[in-house]
Amino acid sequence: MSAPVSRRLKAAIVGGGVIGGGWAARFLLNGWDVAVFDPDPDATRKINEVIANARIALPALYDKALPSEGTLTFHSDLADALADVDWVQESVPEQLELKHKVLGALSEAAPADAVIASSTSGFKPSELNAQGARAIVAHPFNPVYLLPLVELVGAAERTAPAAEILRSIGMFPLVLRKEIDAHIADRLLEAVWRESLWLVKDGVATTEEIDEAIRMGFGIRWAQMGLFETYRIAGGEAGMKHFMKQFGPALSWPWTKLMDVPEFTPELVDLIAGQSDAQSGHLSIRELERLRDDNIVGMVRALKRSGSGAAGVICAHEAALAAPKRREGLPVTACRQVPSSWTDYNGHMNETHYLEAASKATDRFMELIGADAAYVAGGKSYFTVESHVRYLEEVHAGDRITITSQVLNGAGKKLHLLHRIWRGDGTLAATIETLLLHTDLEARRACEPEAHVADALSKLAADHAALPAEGAGRFVGQRPTA
Ligand SMILES: NC(=O)c1ccc[n+]([C@@H]2O[C@H](COP(=O)([O-])OP(=O)(O)OC[C@H]3O[C@@H](n4cnc5c(N)ncnc54)[C@H](O)[C@@H]3O)[C@@H](O)[C@H]2O)c1
Repeated sequence: MSAPVSRRLKAAIVGGGVIGGGWAARFLLNGWDVAVFDPDPDATRKINEVIANARIALPALYDKALPSEGTLTFHSDLADALADVDWVQESVPEQLELKHKVLGALSEAAPADAVIASSTSGFKPSELNAQGARAIVAHPFNPVYLLPLVELVGAAERTAPAAEILRSIGMFPLVLRKEIDAHIADRLLEAVWRESLWLVKDGVATTEEIDEAIRMGFGIRWAQMGLFETYRIAGGEAGMKHFMKQFGPALSWPWTKLMDVPEFTPELVDLIAGQSDAQSGHLSIRELERLRDDNIVGMVRALKRSGSGAAGVICAHEAALAAPKRREGLPVTACRQVPSSWTDYNGHMNETHYLEAASKATDRFMELIGADAAYVAGGKSYFTVESHVRYLEEVHAGDRITITSQVLNGAGKKLHLLHRIWRGDGTLAATIETLLLHTDLEARRACEPEAHVADALSKLAADHAALPAEGAGRFVGQRPTA
């Protein structure tokens, strides 16, 4: 194992527009220091706005806290931005001459062991490095702080360590087998974009109708199974071969415009921009971004149950995140950020989510005593039979909460727990007292736990017996005691 790193890792973001701002947020919220170099006098404002959106959206994907945020700095001198960096992400406009100039300067000035990556949507590493630069392609997708996909292109000895780093910040590196113009995803997207332009130009559909054709149907399918798995199911019980036999011939019918591209005449640009204004012009770009982020978070969270698609990346990243183990003599059973979706019209965490947080803490506690997924699969579990919540202080979106779990009684079939929810500022925000009964899942009746669970529980109960348990045993409406 390598020695622990005592300093924070650092990324330089060169070009801080739409994509550079997203990269800055992705690194920063995963605990990296971030140094930005962009000559645009508005870059600081724009990046801070992107990061503000990211702070709301990214932690909402996780049931565990992300590392504490790194430090964000802006530099007018490129050498300052590049000092001691581990990763350099170039995201300047898509012009080959400019990329040559910038990547050449980065390859000279960055530390020799730093990854130098370009966000280019279309250029191949051989084109980017034609004048001696040493860049790989790390092509992300907007919003970079939420979508995991990064297409990695370049020499294997450069892409392999880069892939490890990307995984550690919750991304999904897709390493290309060979370089090709526009990599993989943009080739697919361009085919759809090209056909859509024709449909608008020929008056077949408006921009809004094309968007409906995507989001009412195949867009939902694609996020969870992609293209080939979807078509496998579409083939029915006979599967993929049947599907290809049935629909293969249609490919040679003149359904599509193939490689023809409509000319971007002023009339076509006005037609498309005008329809787009009519469709979405009532919302600002920042409002559209927040709507998009909320929707993405909701969809990815829905996929977490099965671990399909992007949610699999979140689950793997979550499992690798470090969490505190103990607090004031008690095990920490949850540590997470409060998402804005947990807050209500009063501007604070809604009562439902105290129980949700406590239920995750109970699940973690059960793992600690050996009543884990394998134990449940073996037919035994604990059922919750009673809970009492005390709401002591307000909790707001973005607060980092920590939950400790104290055993009040762990004898026989009964498991009596006192969860405490602590805010990041050290204030006790709530207690949730819960009684569970050990249950045989087949008989659906209470029964004694197996010996290893009973032993682990009695040991914890003995450890926790001498600790205070303020507020335990209270009932609804009881006056506070002096
Ligand atoms: N927009 C997307 O959806 C998307 C998606 C994936 C990849 N990309 C790729 O990312 C790159 C950037 O695209 P974008 O959409 O963020 O563009 P953008 O125009 O939003 O941002 C480019 C930024 O680069 C800055 N810049 C210009 N010259 C510079 C220089 N010499 N040094 C430092 N900064 C400089 C500009 O001030 C601007 O802030 C392109 O290569 C593009 O192909 C874009």
